[in-house]
Amino acid sequence: MEPSVFSTIILLPAFILFFSKKKSSKCSYKLPPGPPGLPIFGNMFELGTEPYKKMACLKEKYGPVLWLKLGTSCNIMVVQTAEAAAELFKNHDTCFANRAWGDIPQVHNYCQASPALALYGPFWRFQRRICTVEMFVNKKINETVAIRRKCVDNMLKWIEKAANSAEKGSGIEVTRFVFLATFNMLGNLIMSKDLADPESEEASEFFNAMKGMMEWAGLTNVSDLFPFLRRFDLQSLRKKMTRDMGKAMEIMSIFIKEREEERKKGTAEKRKDFLDVLLEFEGTGKDEPAKLSEHQIKVLILEMFLAGSETTSNSVEWALTELLRHPEAMTKVKTEISKVVGPNRKFEESDIDNLSYMQAVIKESLRLHPPLPFLIPRETSQDTKFMGYYVPKGTRVLVNAWAIGRDPECWNDPMSFKPERFLGSKLDVKGQHYELIPFGAGRRMCFGLPLGHRMMHFALGSLLHKFNWELPDGVSPKSINMNGSMGMTARKRDSIKAVPKKA
Ligand code: HEM
Repeated sequence: MEPSVFSTIILLPAFILFFSKKKSSKCSYKLPPGPPGLPIFGNMFELGTEPYKKMACLKEKYGPVLWLKLGTSCNIMVVQTAEAAAELFKNHDTCFANRAWGDIPQVHNYCQASPALALYGPFWRFQRRICTVEMFVNKKINETVAIRRKCVDNMLKWIEKAANSAEKGSGIEVTRFVFLATFNMLGNLIMSKDLADPESEEASEFFNAMKGMMEWAGLTNVSDLFPFLRRFDLQSLRKKMTRDMGKAMEIMSIFIKEREEERKKGTAEKRKDFLDVLLEFEGTGKDEPAKLSEHQIKVLILEMFLAGSETTSNSVEWALTELLRHPEAMTKVKTEISKVVGPNRKFEESDIDNLSYMQAVIKESLRLHPPLPFLIPRETSQDTKFMGYYVPKGTRVLVNAWAIGRDPECWNDPMSFKPERFLGSKLDVKGQHYELIPFGAGRRMCFGLPLGHRMMHFALGSLLHKFNWELPDGVSPKSINMNGSMGMTARKRDSIKAVPKKA
């Protein structure tokens, strides 16, 4: 290693540490407590592949708010209990409403136009409004039932085909099909396109580029922990993200051009999709833009895929896995579906309201396995006091929804899968009950909730109605590996394989 690089690695962090200590000692409040960590590296080697679990274990020693330092520059506050989450969302939400930007989201100026990463302010408010009004209100969701019907029917067909060609008793990877169906649903809602269509070259390229983006976005980037290493891009993450996001944006430009031409010629489909809405948008130019730029449209659309597909398919995978581990719950949910839907017709979205046990299964699974265990990290916009602690501006704030969902202070027998706990209970996932926040809460709560929620229930209900699911030969409920791994979402480390048999 060159001496200048070496001295930068050693001296710069020491310098930063020295000054950050000075700053906090000036304040009469202390930083929240946490494990001491190593010089320079902080706590980065203590967190493992399931950091939400490790952090949950630290709650006993350090209490509801934990302080960690990763590398030289990343200060993290972790909120670990429902009470602390309530304090954050009710009394400090605005101060904690910005998002943290690492190196990767800055590629192609993505974060400038992304609703999930936008600074809390008028442009974010506008994006939230247009997405909600044009895509996520119940009326809009009800108008697009046929799209989800088509995507779920295709999913069931693909599963049948895969099961027929799989070796007997070996099982298929169910999540792959749920992911494709969700991706196609979003493609159809947004651009009236089947984007997981293997027969279209552009669609396949777009799909692969998006898969790449999801992978790179989920990896810990050394450049964020040691900003002085940023220019070396040691894991080539910026390079890979630039390539894949560039490809996805290039294909989006083709789709947009095609649509503009169709609109000029008057050959566009009658049904207005989200792309039409964005292209037609005319705002006041005050709290909202007068027009949306092509870049803003592209990022907003990419974001819907990034935020909506893996979260939904992972939730279905965890729920199905829990049912396979708990045959008695599987029997109950199948019996309920048989009673309400019966054998002579398809499972419909309108059945969901009549399936209270299935709804309880999904809540219980989201309690134990929130796909975003830390929600999306926030960042403090100013020095602030929180629960008696000093939290400096620029601190990353993680809300450990995983730990909260398993907190014995909120839940009886918290580690057991018991959907019954939700029967007759008013607890829901809509951000009002801080002990159950798989979609977050407060101002930055998920705004795709109505769609994600509907699709999750529809996909799981259809899978259970159409097939009887069994574990592959040699796998017992007790031997299923329930470990997760942290990428963009917390997925099962080993994707669940199951054998679908005609119901
Ligand atoms: C089961 C499915 C889903 C789950 C569990 C989920 C979960 C979440 C969570 C935990 C957050 C962060 C909330 C916070 O920081 O407080 C979030 C944000 C977000 N989600 Fe979802 N989500 C799902 C589906 C969707 C879908 C289908 C879409 C859109 C198509 C979507 C779009 C978004 C967006 C745009 C944000 C950023 C909100 C903001 O920063 O203001 N999500 N989601």
